[in-house]
Amino acid sequence: MPDSAAPVTWPEGNTPLVERDAVREFTGVRRLSLKHEGMNPTGSFKDRGMTVAVTDAVRCGARAVACASTGNTAASLAAYAAHARIPALVLVPRGNVAAGKLAQATAYGARTLLVNGDFDACLTLARDASRTLGVYLANSVNPWRLEGQKTIVWELLEQLEWRPPDWIALPAGALGNTAAFGKALREARALGLITTVPRILAVQAAGAAPFARGFAHGFTDRVTVRAETVATAIRIGDPASWDRAVRTIRETDGIVTMVTDSDIMEAKAVLDGSGVGCEPASAASVAGVRALAERGVIASDAHVVCVLTGHVLKDPDAVSSYHAGDSKRANPPIQVEPTLDEVERVLRAT
Ligand code: F0G
Repeated sequence: MPDSAAPVTWPEGNTPLVERDAVREFTGVRRLSLKHEGMNPTGSFKDRGMTVAVTDAVRCGARAVACASTGNTAASLAAYAAHARIPALVLVPRGNVAAGKLAQATAYGARTLLVNGDFDACLTLARDASRTLGVYLANSVNPWRLEGQKTIVWELLEQLEWRPPDWIALPAGALGNTAAFGKALREARALGLITTVPRILAVQAAGAAPFARGFAHGFTDRVTVRAETVATAIRIGDPASWDRAVRTIRETDGIVTMVTDSDIMEAKAVLDGSGVGCEPASAASVAGVRALAERGVIASDAHVVCVLTGHVLKDPDAVSSYHAGDSKRANPPIQVEPTLDEVERVLRAT
């Protein structure tokens, strides 16, 4: 076992803030930057919270750690538990986890349970298991996870020399990150690091949009739905961090919107085609900015940071099916005979 005072760290964070003309042209927002959280060690922002949670699990003397997950939390927990040399149990919805994430969880040695149910069922089960079997719960209902995820916002503010953007856009599922972003901004302002607070734009997939529906009605009721979307990372119908995320939206004069799966996949094709790349859920942030810029809610000269939450290699099947079909930006691989003529034919048509 590592020394219980020592952090269990990969290390993580220090992700790049990049700019790409193709993405700016696509959204119509001239000052748009991309904070690429897919550049974390297991390929998603989850590592920022997992270092804190698994360090706490070791400090508590936990005999095992567990989580429910749409895939990325599972991959991250598996890696950090392996590092800490404690067993990990991950509960994922069978048939709805991207290949890269499932591969990571098994490769890093977690016991991976393919649950016949959706993410919401997995979370209920993980919570019950944690209570009854005494395993340490590493979902974002664990406050340490959110403490770690606050660093996304602090780091991007630091990269901008503490001149806050007008908007920060992120995909929203269980709403842990939305909650963490609000807390990070609240604390940064209280410490005098910033004097203005960016507006948060939380973007959901139309088939998994309880929070966007709640926002449309002034958050009078807590909404739940049966979720379905190509962006499996955010295929969540009953978000756990609802109340804390409502506070974020209210405090930042934020907006919650929804985009269709085809909007998500088109934004992803643009991001991927710019050489940056991300998984489907991440592209929801850019699709949401485009939609709000079209409606004039986001000004074309606004400074916007979109958070790309996961790496392009997380979900190779989403890429293959998009490019195999008749999608607007399809780039299907071409089968050729091993002749120069065939190569030349392809080159001429490009
Ligand atoms: N983007 C990606 C790539 C994610 O994996 C998730 C959540 C989100 C966005 C949404 O963040 O839940 O804090 O609102 N993935 C979780 C998981 C649910 O199990 O990996 P959120």
